[in-house]
Parts: sequence; C-alpha cells; structure tokens
Amino acid sequence: MPSADTAASADLQPLLERIRPEVRQAHAYIVSHPPNIEVKLNQNESPFDLPAELKQELAEELLQTPLNRYPGEQPYELRDALATHLGVAPEMLLMGNGSNELTYTFGLTMLEPGTPVVLPTPMFSLYEKVARLHGAALTSVPCRSDFHFDIDALLRAIDAVEPALVVITTPNNPTGLTVPHADIERVLEATPGFVVVDEAYYEFLEGPTAQALLDDHPNLLILRTFSKAAGLAGVRLGYMLGHAAIIQEVFKARLPFMIDRVAEAAGLLLLRHPDLIRDRIRQMKQGMATLAAGLRAIEGVHVVPSQANFMVFRPPLEPDVVMRRLAEDGVLVRNMGGYADLQGYLRVNAGTPKENNQFLTALKRALAT
Ligand SMILES: Cc1ncc(COP(=O)(O)O)c(C=O)c1O
Repeated sequence: MPSADTAASADLQPLLERIRPEVRQAHAYIVSHPPNIEVKLNQNESPFDLPAELKQELAEELLQTPLNRYPGEQPYELRDALATHLGVAPEMLLMGNGSNELTYTFGLTMLEPGTPVVLPTPMFSLYEKVARLHGAALTSVPCRSDFHFDIDALLRAIDAVEPALVVITTPNNPTGLTVPHADIERVLEATPGFVVVDEAYYEFLEGPTAQALLDDHPNLLILRTFSKAAGLAGVRLGYMLGHAAIIQEVFKARLPFMIDRVAEAAGLLLLRHPDLIRDRIRQMKQGMATLAAGLRAIEGVHVVPSQANFMVFRPPLEPDVVMRRLAEDGVLVRNMGGYADLQGYLRVNAGTPKENNQFLTALKRALAT
C-alpha cells in the first residue's frame, strides 16, 4: 500500500492545485497541547466545569431526548429563553455552534473576492482568516503603543476604503482592553457596511455592552459565546445579535441543524441557573486580581491591564524559554508571538485559586533559573 506521502507527491499534486489558493495559503487553527499539563491557562476557558448535580440534571434530560430526531433548524426553545434573558425579540438572535461558526457564516453572507474589510490589530485571529479565505481586500490598522485600538486611524481607514465589514472585539482578545462606547458609535456611524462587535468576554466588562446601541444602528452585529464566563466551551454554543431583517439574511447562508439537542439542553440548563454564572464571574475576577498583583510583583514583568478573564504580560526572558519551563512544571499559557504587535508577550487566563498560585510559583521559578 502506498504511504500517504508517496501518494501526495505523485497523484495528488494536480488535485491539490485545484484547491482554492486562499485555502492552500491558510493555516489550520491548531492549539498546542503538550503532555502532562495540570494547570491549563491557555485558552481563556472557565476553570469551572458544570457542578455534578447540574450534569446529573442534564443527563436525566438527555434520557428523555430523542437523539434519532433532527434538532430544529435553530434551537428555538433556547433562542426564545435567551431572548427573554437578554430582553430582545427572538428574531434578533441567531444561535451558532460556538461563535466561531457564526464568524464563518457572516463571512459567507458578506464577503466576496475584493470586498473591503477593515480590522484593527491585534485581534482574535479567526477574523483575518475568514477575510482571507473569501479573498476579501483586507486593511489592517495597527494598535497604539499601549495596545489600545487606534480609533482615529481606524476611522481614517474606514473613510478611505468604505468597508463592507469592520470588526471590533471588546474586551479584546488577546489584550483584554476595551473600546469606549463613544468610539464604537463613531465606528458604527462611519462604516457604510456592517460592524461586528465581538463580545465573547462581555460578562467580565464593567459598564455598558454594545447591545444598547442596536436600536439606533442597524449595521451593528454582536457576537457572544457560552464558552467563556458560562463555562461551556466543550459544548459549542454562541450567538449573533442584530437587526431582525439582517439576522434573517444571515440565517439563509448557514447550514441547518448546527445546534444539536445536547447543546440546546446544556444552554437551557445554564439559563435556569443565573446565580451559578454570576458567582463564577465573581471568582474569575478575583482570580484576575490575584494574577495581576502577583505578576506586577515580579521584577521585570510588564502586565497589560485587562477587563476580561485573561491578561497578556511580557516576561524579562524569551517567551519560548518561559513557556518551556512552565510546561515542565505542568503549567500551560499561550505565546503571543504570532501577533506582530505582541512580540515578547505571553497570555494567561484566570484559573482556580490553586491554579493561579501554581502558575505564579512556576513563573517565579522559570524566571529564577
Ligand atoms: C474574541 C473571541 N471571539 C470568539 C471566540 C470563540 O468563541 P466560541 O468558543 O464561541 O467559538 C473566542 C475564543 O477564544 C474569542 O476570544
């Protein structure tokens, strides 16, 4: 039997050449998972799994759920419950298989080869990937020296290219910095196309969310997720919030049945337990305070203040070396070297109190050796 490599070099070349160049130039989204990691602080997840009694409740519900039947085209019961929770009309919501899936869907809805797109940097990398996959004409706007988005430069770029799409993430991943409401409004008013405001971390935000701007700005689309504060990254649940007429169009572009019955049941379960989420947000915020104070106390470490459940910091040593030493101690953080603006920086998210202390101890050891 020929090996996969032999086949690729001989018969597969003409086939590979038929794959769209935008896809061949792309990189697969892969997060490294070194072995023997006990303290995992690299993906901005909640450190808290569902409590056992809620898992039991979910399991009992699943016993009554017919898995031989397709789910709804949308998880209508969950959508309606979430609409009530958020105080919006159900038609303003589109549920997704994680908010990542909706990013692909709005790419399909809005982007063609040459479509102008403006993205401030540094930003969650999926947006650039989606723009490039569709062959969009991408304008990137570098951040200021304090890592805040450069809103004046962004407005100049919007004026120059009249984009079909601008994306703002607030609090931003990877910096944890926020964009003031007045600036979001300036961007909404200047942009002839859509402005996607990614609020994956909105539960950690002190102050208003972009939801308050929806009534006056039909070009606003908000993306959120159950993966972070709500702690359901393993289930895959997110949503898009926007004007009903726009949501209806986005719905046409997407695959049906993207939310399975298990994810819908898990989402409904969480909405029935808002106190649990509130308590966990409080604990994660406390964890952030511990991490920030601990990092600031280490000589030579520069910390960027964050309003999310993670922060970036620059250690006084090569990030690769620090990452390796931390991993030897069973601690995993994320290297920000892939972001041009954040060379030399690492990102860590809030874990349990024990994990936060393990990380700080391991970091001190990594910097002392
Ligand atoms: C800004 C931002 N948006 C979206 C996501 C992905 O969310 P989901 O798990 O719902 O696909 C992430 C995950 O890291 C993120 O940081």
